[in-house]
Amino acid sequence: MPCDYGVRDGPKPKHIDRKAIHTSLEERIKYLHDFLEFGSADIEALASGAKYIKQLIPAVVNLVYKKLLQYDITSRAFHTRTTACEDELEEDFLHEETPQIQRRKMFLRWYLTRLCQDPTSIDFWRYLNKVGLMHCGQERMAPLNIEYVHINACMGYIQDIFIEALMSHPHLSLRRKIALVRAVNKILWIQNDLFAKWRVRDGEEYADEMSIYSFGSREGYLGDKKILGSSSGSSDDDDRSSITSVAPSTQSAAPSTNTTDTTHTAQTTQSARSGPTKSSACPFAEFSKAQSMETKIWAE
Ligand code: HEM
Repeated sequence: MPCDYGVRDGPKPKHIDRKAIHTSLEERIKYLHDFLEFGSADIEALASGAKYIKQLIPAVVNLVYKKLLQYDITSRAFHTRTTACEDELEEDFLHEETPQIQRRKMFLRWYLTRLCQDPTSIDFWRYLNKVGLMHCGQERMAPLNIEYVHINACMGYIQDIFIEALMSHPHLSLRRKIALVRAVNKILWIQNDLFAKWRVRDGEEYADEMSIYSFGSREGYLGDKKILGSSSGSSDDDDRSSITSVAPSTQSAAPSTNTTDTTHTAQTTQSARSGPTKSSACPFAEFSKAQSMETKIWAE
């Protein structure tokens, strides 16, 4: 007779529909939010911390482009729009000061600015998904094919810059630093998934039924318009933190982290938002409302 170890009385696992997470962006995001426990604490941290992230954007952009131009395989993509071709370039490699790179830096600045906007809006996640799609070489007009190894490395690099810069902020309390770093990380990991989903083959048997921009619409379509080339048949603040001396290198990389709030009054005002209580059409707006700020690890 089999032993009863009393494990059968445990909580029933939540059901996640495999097909739904492969075919519906909404369902995929809901699952990722639930798994990562992305909720009101994160939304609050992002709303109140947006100004600190915005202060970092110019430095993050410069560091990312310095990095991407450091290797021929990634630098070449700014000429050829692909990392999959190793042919010798006819022209010189671009450098940071060239107008082309300055223009591309502007794209990344816009992207990072959008990351500071409202994650309770559907459009926020659609945009992240669109950025993922854009790099996977499937768009019809001027495809951009950046292989995942570079995307993943770049995401890790961006995450590392944010962790160092936010954790070494001179005025934010440790509690707020932690909340902000956690929230930013969750968004970056979801963005990483929205890059990877266009590359991995998981769920490919549902390729015909995948949605992309409009929840519930077909993969590769924006409304009725097909956009994929390939057949889709297939308050400043707080108490001084005790770790302000951490990571001194950030101060050279991101000098603006040392500025005071008064320098950024305009930005601050501009970024002031009504926070998580703002009414939203987004199905995620009310998600995980009851989240606590207590840490899981040190709670005991
Ligand atoms: C991993 C994080 C990355 C993010 C968040 C990101 C974001 C973006 C965004 C927002 C655009 C602008 C698209 C538009 O609005 O037209 C863009 C374009 C582009 N990205 Fe990325 N990117 C990433 C990684 C990379 C990497 C690793 C490379 C190269 C190895 C790369 C190469 C390009 C190129 C060549 C363009 C096209 C620029 C143009 O059309 O002039 N990206 N990227």
